[in-house]
Amino acid sequence: MVTHCLLSRALSCVSGARLLTQCKPRLVLGIETSCDDTGAAVVDETGKILGEALYSQKGTHLKAGGIIPTVAQKLHKEHIEKVVQEAVDNSGISPCELTAIATTVKPGLALSLQVGLEYSLKLIEQYKKPFIPIHHMEAHALTVRMLHLVEFPFLVLLVSGGHSLLAIARGISDFLLLGQTLDEAPGDTLDKVARRLSLKNHPACCTMSGGEAIEYLAKMGNRLHVELTQPMSQHLDCDFSFSGLRNQVNQIIVKKEKEEGFQEGQILSCVNDIAAAVQHTVAAHLAKRTHRAILFCKKEGLLPQPNPPLVVSGGVASNEYIRKALQIVTEANGFSLRCPPPKLCTDNGIMIAWNGIEKLRAGVDIVHNPKGIRYEPKAPLGINFSEQVKKAALKVPYLKLKI
Ligand code: KG4
Ligand code: ZN
Repeated sequence: MVTHCLLSRALSCVSGARLLTQCKPRLVLGIETSCDDTGAAVVDETGKILGEALYSQKGTHLKAGGIIPTVAQKLHKEHIEKVVQEAVDNSGISPCELTAIATTVKPGLALSLQVGLEYSLKLIEQYKKPFIPIHHMEAHALTVRMLHLVEFPFLVLLVSGGHSLLAIARGISDFLLLGQTLDEAPGDTLDKVARRLSLKNHPACCTMSGGEAIEYLAKMGNRLHVELTQPMSQHLDCDFSFSGLRNQVNQIIVKKEKEEGFQEGQILSCVNDIAAAVQHTVAAHLAKRTHRAILFCKKEGLLPQPNPPLVVSGGVASNEYIRKALQIVTEANGFSLRCPPPKLCTDNGIMIAWNGIEKLRAGVDIVHNPKGIRYEPKAPLGINFSEQVKKAALKVPYLKLKI
C-alpha cells in the first residue's frame, strides 16, 4: 500500500536526518486541503519547486452543483496519500531530507482541513520533523515572493471562491486588513452565475470552473447589452459586496428566459453578453475598492517604498480582464502590479510549502510538539483596520476602465 511505502521509509532515515539537514539547503513539504484541491509540493529555500502534485475535485463538484463538504472530505482522504507521495517522488528527495512539513490549518472547510492536518501529524510523527501551521490567505499573499523580489510592506488584493479582501502585508504574519466582503466572494458569485446559466451544459465550458467559464464566454460578448449597477457605490470604504450583483443577474436571466421561451438546462442566446457584463462589473468593483485602498495607503504613508507593489492573488486573480482593470488602477497611481501565474493563483501545495520556507527563514511558527495544533475553519487575516478606512471616507476619482 502507498501509505506504507511513504511511511515505512521513516525508520530507515530518521537517524541520518540531523546530519543531512545540517549540510543541505532547507526543504519544506507543503500540504493543502482547505477546500476542494488536494495539493502537495516540495520547495527549497531559493523558491525552486522540486516536486509537486495536485488533485482537483472540480469535476465532481461541478456535476453536483457545488461543494458538498462530506464529499470534499472523502475525496481528500482518497487522494492525499497519492498526492504527497507523487510530490515527494518527483522531487527526487527522500522524506528524511525535509527540514519541515507545512500544512494549511486555517481558514477553510472544517472537514477538508481535518484531513490535511491529521495526515500531516502522522508524517511528522513518523519522520520526526517540525510542523509549520499555515494560514491559507497568508500563503496566497506571499506566493509572489517566491518568484519576484517583493519587499514588505505591500498592498495585497486576495480574491477567490471563499474570500475577497484588501490588506497591507507588513511582514510574514503581519497584516493590516483594510476591507473584506460583507457577503460572498467574487469566485463564489461567478460560480453561482455560471450554474444559473447551466454552463455545465455548454460544450466549451463544461469542464471549467464558473470563473473560467465566465471569462471564456465574456470574450465573445458585449457587456453594454446588459445593464448592471455597481455594488456599494455610496460606501466610501474598501469592503466588497457581490450578492446584490448576483440577484441583479438572476433577475435579468429570469426575464431573458421568459422572452426566449426557455426550457430548463438550455443555454440562453445572450449568455456571452451576460458573462461580459458580470465580469466587467466584478472587475470594476474590485478596481474601485483597490483604488481607494491605494489612496488610503498614500494618505497615511503606509507604503513608503517608491512604486509600491499591489499583489493580486487567489483563483479569481487568474482572470485576465480583472488583471487589466487593476493594471489601469496601478498605472494611474504609480503602483506596480504583481500577480503570480494563474497556476499559482488557484489553490496548490507550492504556496503552502513556500509559506513554510518564509516562516522557517524568519524562525516563526516552527512547532516541535504539534499536539495542541487545531484546525480553524474561520480565521481573520491580520489586524482589522477597516474602521479607519471608513472614517477617512476617501472619494475615488473617475477612472475609465478601457479594457
Ligand atoms: O483560490 P481558489 O483556487 O480556491 C479558493 O480558495 O476559493 O479559487 C477558486 C475560485 C473559483 O470560484 C473559480 O471560479 C475562480 O477562483 N476562478 C476564476 C478564474 N479561474 C478560477 N474566476 C475568474 N476568472 C478565472 N479565470
Ligand atoms: Zn485559495
